[in-house]
Amino acid sequence: MAIQIKTLEQLKLMRSAGKIVWQTLIEIKKTAAVGVTTEELDQLAREILSSNGATSSFLGYHGYPSVICASVNEEVVHGIPNKRKLQNGDLLSIDFGAIVEGWHADAAISFGIGEVEAADQKLMQACEESMWAGIAAGKVGANLTDISFAIESHIKSKGVYGILREYGGHGIGSQMHQEPHILNYGKSGLGPKLEIGMALAIEPMITRGSEKMKVLSDEWTVVSQDNSRGAHFEHSYALLPDAKPFVLTAPDGGKAELAKRNVEISNLLS
Ligand code: MF3
Ligand code: CO
Repeated sequence: MAIQIKTLEQLKLMRSAGKIVWQTLIEIKKTAAVGVTTEELDQLAREILSSNGATSSFLGYHGYPSVICASVNEEVVHGIPNKRKLQNGDLLSIDFGAIVEGWHADAAISFGIGEVEAADQKLMQACEESMWAGIAAGKVGANLTDISFAIESHIKSKGVYGILREYGGHGIGSQMHQEPHILNYGKSGLGPKLEIGMALAIEPMITRGSEKMKVLSDEWTVVSQDNSRGAHFEHSYALLPDAKPFVLTAPDGGKAELAKRNVEISNLLS
């Protein structure tokens, strides 16, 4: 299967989905506090989806029961929302995807509840910055693994972290998960050349300890084997017909973060 190439019209729909995804993540971040449950955050996301006439990328995906993934502390990704109350010092990762007229956008953020340890802040910062480094490296004409290499290089420059091996980024479009799979580590210069019309979800997942994971008996929640805390950031971005990138799930299209990395964004979307 080839990588799906999107038209500008299709990317406009993905941008609409991306705006809803970002708005939802921000509302969740504002609402998440000591005593709030992740089920309540899932409910909030459901309400925002329906008030926007959008649907969930996650609900029913291989039987997944919720519209968000909410992963707390040593849960790194794919945590199912539940009745556990958030506590001061928790590190929460929220992953969320929306569909508008058949077109998906997918993003994730990590943040602390109340006061978190400095080491958790550093973990989250390394993870988020590595995502931007990956997007900046994923230009038209680059090879796919230039993204992987940029992500890993940035993480390694920030400390000793575990980079998940079995999970990575992905193509996105008329399905949430499409080819290609995008490793968060590895050599540069390999894999397909990136072309206009491709859309990719870049999502580094790292821990303060081991890269080794186990999946809980709920068959979803991915927990680090050494119980070290994890962070996860994700944005979906596209390569537009003017050969410039645009981050579909970022409020400014990625302008500010990519400018820091000397990459200009497309003005074909807003
Ligand atoms: N959004 C996740 C990813 O970034 C996938 C979530 S799995 C689901 O690839 F089942 F919750 F949808
Ligand atoms: Co994703």
